[in-house]
Amino acid sequence: MQSPAQPVLRERILLGVGGGIAAYKAADLVRRLREVGAEVRVVMTEAAREFVGPTTFQALSGHPVRSSLWDPAAEAAMGHIELARWADRIVIAPATAGLIARLAAGMADDLVTTLCLASRAPLVLAPAMNQAMWAHPATRANVAMLVARGAMLVGPGVGGQACGDEGAGRMAEPAEIVAALSAAASPPPLLAGRRVLVNAGPTYEDIDPVRFLGNRSSGKMGFAVAEAAARVGATVTLVAGPVRLATPAGVERVDVRSAREMAEAVFRLAPAAEVFVAAAAVADFTPKLASGSKIKKSDEGLSLSLVPTTDILATLGAWPERPFLVGFAAETESVEDYARDKLARKNLDLIAANAVGGSDDAFDADDNALLLIARDGTRVDLPRAPKSALAARLVAEIAARLPSR
Ligand code: CTP
Repeated sequence: MQSPAQPVLRERILLGVGGGIAAYKAADLVRRLREVGAEVRVVMTEAAREFVGPTTFQALSGHPVRSSLWDPAAEAAMGHIELARWADRIVIAPATAGLIARLAAGMADDLVTTLCLASRAPLVLAPAMNQAMWAHPATRANVAMLVARGAMLVGPGVGGQACGDEGAGRMAEPAEIVAALSAAASPPPLLAGRRVLVNAGPTYEDIDPVRFLGNRSSGKMGFAVAEAAARVGATVTLVAGPVRLATPAGVERVDVRSAREMAEAVFRLAPAAEVFVAAAAVADFTPKLASGSKIKKSDEGLSLSLVPTTDILATLGAWPERPFLVGFAAETESVEDYARDKLARKNLDLIAANAVGGSDDAFDADDNALLLIARDGTRVDLPRAPKSALAARLVAEIAARLPSR
């Protein structure tokens, strides 16, 4: 049983063990990570094996330990790219000066560095080296570069070193590393107790029982927003169009198909919401009349008569009592102008604009870039990043602007 004070870390951690004397502490780190709920897989550099045997890590992690890219049995069980994708976070402990240099240079000359390069998971470094090596301008520059790319540093500590020197370079204690990982995994509860409604995905407008008009929205951005809001404490309801995406943890989901069903669900749920994020790509037109039976092929061709759907966001914008409204604007050109126009026209509090269609196409991608424009005209650029990271930034911007109750 975990005591209530103990941190919880339900993450898949890939631990890269570098070749330094502190490798022995990495064994204790594996044990402690598992104690708080993490799943751990260990990859060692060749040098690390000189300090601690892989059997120790295998026994502690409960999984085979890998060191080489050229291990056919291990590759067959879980290929290295699969392993890179599996990780929620990569922790390098001990991160030796040499390993840090190779990571900074983007090298892929062994399994640990290859995995770091192939993975999108955030990188955490627990440096361990002689104090002169840590102080060296080359190491300072390498560390600065990795931190600028988003790596998190834990330690090093100051004190007596294995080599007899005194100074900075001692690997952070395993308990300290676990505490830092847990703190980073639990973001501040920016929306604790706030009720957030999100819609996501495309809508399908039926033409007949087998055909529909749809669009290329994947729903990924809306699902990421729902997940990010839930992670910072919001009570989230997600109205999802037809998508094949797993429901984020702790989110209540309502499935709909057409623009009409989407509108009905949102209008029913919006009065209880404090925030509505309209990430869905709602069809603007729907067939005037859907045929009850399959339309047969004919040489005369087929003309469809389409009628406009209800603009969900604009309707909410006109409600006297309305949630904080966040719209999305997917544009092929003049992104900022069209977004500002939509913000005003639909009476929104915030709009998130992105370019679609060109080489930066956001549809179905895992990455996106957003330009946020607030009601007061201020703009925030969120550069290209995974949709999960962008969603977390967007949620933080919403929280900062949301009137307190
Ligand atoms: N939206 C909506 N209901 C609709 C159409 C759009 O709520 N029937 C919302 C979308 O969820 C999005 C915002 O309005 O948050 C902007 O959608 P977009 O398709 O870019 O704008 P439109 O108003 O449809 O304008 P246009 O297609 O002419 O660019």
